[in-house]
Amino acid sequence: QAQELIPQLSVFAVAAFRLLPSVNQVNHLLSRILFLMPSVDKIYEDLKEAGAEEIEKRQAKETGGLSKAETIRFRDVSFRYPGTEKEILKNVSVEIPLKSSFGFIGSSGAGKTTFIDLLLGLLEPGSGGVFYGNQNICRYAEDWGRKLGYIPQNIYLADDTIRRNVAFGIPDSLIEEDKVWNALKKAQLADFVRSLQDGLDTRIGEVGIRLSGGQRQRIGIARALYQEPEILVLDEATSALDTDTEQAVMEAVEHLKGKCTLIMVAHRTSTLKGCEKIYRVENQKVIPATV
Ligand SMILES: Nc1ncnc2c1ncn2[C@@H]1O[C@H](COP(=O)(O)OP(=O)(O)OP(=O)(O)O)[C@@H](O)[C@H]1O
Ligand SMILES: [Mg+2]
Repeated sequence: QAQELIPQLSVFAVAAFRLLPSVNQVNHLLSRILFLMPSVDKIYEDLKEAGAEEIEKRQAKETGGLSKAETIRFRDVSFRYPGTEKEILKNVSVEIPLKSSFGFIGSSGAGKTTFIDLLLGLLEPGSGGVFYGNQNICRYAEDWGRKLGYIPQNIYLADDTIRRNVAFGIPDSLIEEDKVWNALKKAQLADFVRSLQDGLDTRIGEVGIRLSGGQRQRIGIARALYQEPEILVLDEATSALDTDTEQAVMEAVEHLKGKCTLIMVAHRTSTLKGCEKIYRVENQKVIPATV
């Protein structure tokens, strides 16, 4: 009996020996977790508080949805960043009719992005207001957000399928395939995606196809269009592209004219030549410009 026990015990001994580093690691990690717990608690508390505040704010502000309007209006808007002296915009009044296409130019640091962020409702004017018809957008944050599509300078693409990158953040069961194709078509990408062997299921990124800069940007446009926004905002969405690629992307944008309100910021004035009206952001003002 004893003779049989010895090999068995030695197996246990070997196993225990093998386990030792892992047990050590678990022990080490547990003490790290305990050490970091207070910070986690603090962040958790902060997030919870922020969430409650946000809901309160919404309930206070949301007084029914936005009703239809014909224009977006900046009325005497002044703005400075908190903790700074200089006013970036001063008494700015601009009227943007819906379904029109407006371009904004200006030197770096003039305040174009600030202007756009005020329009998106990400910043609140110090004085004056941004209105949708006669309704101050600050009071309708959520409803206003639903009307907006935003295309930034650099699109973040997930290492996932084209379908999921266009219908971004939407659970698979709720993705509407026709809407994905429709968005791709408007972004002038449908033919390209159809030519791919896996179509919408083609993966982008590390394990899939590599897209050109212009194609990436157009996926961004398709993503914004999937939400069927009433107002599409492009803040230097093409400035990272070379002129030819930019041309292709702008052609996609051109097709949206008249279907939604287009608000574009560009570095190169040539990008904006298709716009109905062009403004220059300069010396705290936003004034009509000719190109
Ligand atoms: N968060 C911030 N806090 C303080 N100042 C800021 C902040 N963001 C921007 N600014 C300042 O506001 C001014 C306008 O910046 P903004 O980003 O609107 O310029 P821009 O016209 O978009 O420039 P660019 O063409 O380089 O994108 C700049 O002088 C900038 O330094
Ligand atoms: Mg900017």
